[in-house]
Amino acid sequence: MSIAASTGTPSATRIYARIAGTGSYLPEKILTNAELSTIVDTSDEWIASRTGIRQRHVAAEGETTGDLAYHASVRALEAAGVDAAEIDLIVLGTTTPDLIFPSTACLLQHRLGANGCAAFDVNAACSGFVFALAVADKFIASGAAKTVLVVGAETLTRMVDWTERTTCVLFGDGAGAVVLKADTETGILSTHLHADGGKKELLWNPVGVSVGFKENAPNAGVRINMAGSDVFKYAVKALDSVVEETLEANGLDRHDIDWLIPHQANLRIIEATAKRLDMPMERVVVTVDRHGNTSSGSVPLALDEAVRSGRVQRGQLVLLEAFGGGFTWGSALLRY
Ligand code: ACO
Repeated sequence: MSIAASTGTPSATRIYARIAGTGSYLPEKILTNAELSTIVDTSDEWIASRTGIRQRHVAAEGETTGDLAYHASVRALEAAGVDAAEIDLIVLGTTTPDLIFPSTACLLQHRLGANGCAAFDVNAACSGFVFALAVADKFIASGAAKTVLVVGAETLTRMVDWTERTTCVLFGDGAGAVVLKADTETGILSTHLHADGGKKELLWNPVGVSVGFKENAPNAGVRINMAGSDVFKYAVKALDSVVEETLEANGLDRHDIDWLIPHQANLRIIEATAKRLDMPMERVVVTVDRHGNTSSGSVPLALDEAVRSGRVQRGQLVLLEAFGGGFTWGSALLRY
């Protein structure tokens, strides 16, 4: 079963979560494919042809997920014209928190000066932002919150094994944020979330508090383990199905969507979803070439870029989707 939130046709009484402002932040340091090929046995040609990635940003020493989240949030609040004191709730998607606890959302709350509002993290790996957005949407649709800050922020390069060429070429650091405001006109139309915990070992980081930080166990070490081609196949199928589900739930045809803003893991996965939607690549927001896979950061980073460049306009129908470790996958359809 999926969790389908607040689907249906607009009505006078419905409360929508509307995106009032977006923001994003990328660390200064850029690592190109050419530079990577001096670290591991790879090449720009291999990485670009298999993934579409040309470069990624890497957090500086001491720069944390919380730092990236803070800069992205300040920009989103500015764009929305919202003061931190007005925030009722902060939901932050991350799988690379600053600390085990407090949550990165709590650290962010204090730094923004939004003290007192509820704040928590959501861990759904690369689907973190879409899951966080769905949670925030429910708080607004139920009337429990009016102004919510939703963030996707990651420093995945901190858990990359820089000697493992099959994974280290894929990931980058970055954060994106949106400010949601309650609105009676329009906003998020529906969200759809899924998970399959049975596929844990196809994409995982096998260390942790409760299982212990065992360096000698099979596949141990704080690093991403991935069965790349299995993940690829599962992701394409799961995203196809969640896109269908989203269109059906809203009584829409695939040609009604103005913009597809997908999780930025691999250009070939993005192209497969666009093909399924019969959508020309000009209406698909692509940042994977410059950002790599920033996990929870990828969708809000792409959204912010599309909004600030003037591509995504008020009133347009935008489909967000993501897939990640868990497995987790989901979508959000919104009228921007
Ligand atoms: N440089 C050069 N050669 C490489 C590299 C590299 N960086 N990595 C692997 N190779 C080699 C392999 O060793 C293999 O060599 P062999 O044939 O001699 O054994 C060959 O290239 C082919 O390897 P495959 O793993 O079969 O390559 P594939 O075409 O499947 O591409 C990739 C690998 C890019 C990881 C792809 O499977 C993929 O993108 N999968 C999706 C995974 C993903 O995106 N994960 C992110 C998290 S989940 C998410 O966000 C969707």
